[in-house]
Amino acid sequence: MISKPNPDWEKKDVVIKNDRLLIDGYQVMMRWETPYMHKMAEMLHAHSNNNILEVGFGMGISATKLQHLGLKTHTIIEPHPKIYNLALKWKRHYPKSNIMLINDYWQNIRDLLPKYDGIFFDTFSATTEEADLKRFDFFKTASEKLLKSNGALTFYYMKKNLELNYQDELLKSFSKIIIEPQELKSSPDCVYASVDKYVISILAIK
Ligand SMILES: C[S@@+](CC[C@H](N)C(=O)[O-])C[C@H]1O[C@@H](n2cnc3c(N)ncnc32)[C@H](O)[C@@H]1O
Repeated sequence: MISKPNPDWEKKDVVIKNDRLLIDGYQVMMRWETPYMHKMAEMLHAHSNNNILEVGFGMGISATKLQHLGLKTHTIIEPHPKIYNLALKWKRHYPKSNIMLINDYWQNIRDLLPKYDGIFFDTFSATTEEADLKRFDFFKTASEKLLKSNGALTFYYMKKNLELNYQDELLKSFSKIIIEPQELKSSPDCVYASVDKYVISILAIK
C-alpha cells in the first residue's frame, strides 16, 4: 500500500532541547538513542561509503556519525522547515563533504531521485500501524526505485526481534538480512520505545 506523509507536518510546532526533539507535542527523537543511531550508521557504512541517502534529519545524530565515518555523497530528505534549517546549519560543519539537502517528504519525491548504494531510513509515525505501513511501502520503493543492485537499507526498528511480518516484507524485496544486537536501555520518560536490555539493528541487502 502507498503511504502518505503526516498531514501538515511541516506546519507543526517544534521544540528542540539538548536531549530531545518534540514536534506537534510528540517525542520524535531522543538523545539516549545515540548508540543505536551509531550502530545503524556503522552497519550501513561498512557495506558502502559511496552514495548514501538519509531519510529524516531529526537531531542529526545519524547524519553526524555518517559524516565522521566518511561518505562520497550524502543526500538528506527532511520535510519540516525548522529541522531543514537545522540541517543547513549542520552542513556548514562539513565544507569539504558532498552533502545535498532536500526539503520535502520522501513520498513526494520518490520518483525523482536517482539510485543510491545505501539508505538510512528514520522518519516519524504517530502509531505503530502507520509506522509499519510506511516502512513496508519504503522497502518496496527502496528496492524498486532507490537502490542500486547490492545496495543496502537500514531502518529504525527499536525492537529485540525481527517480527515475522517484517521478515516477510523484507524478503519480498531484499535477498539478505543482517541482524546485529547491541546492549541498550531506554530513557524512563520515553513514551515511544521501551528497551530493557538490548535491541537489534538491521541491514537489508538488495
Ligand atoms: C526520528 S527523526 C530522525 C532522527 C535521526 N536519525 C537522528 O539521528 O537524529 C525523524 C525525522 O523524520 C522527519 N520526517 C517525518 N516525515 C518524513 C517524511 N515523510 N519524509 C522524510 N522525513 C520525514 C521528521 O521531520 C524528523 O526530522
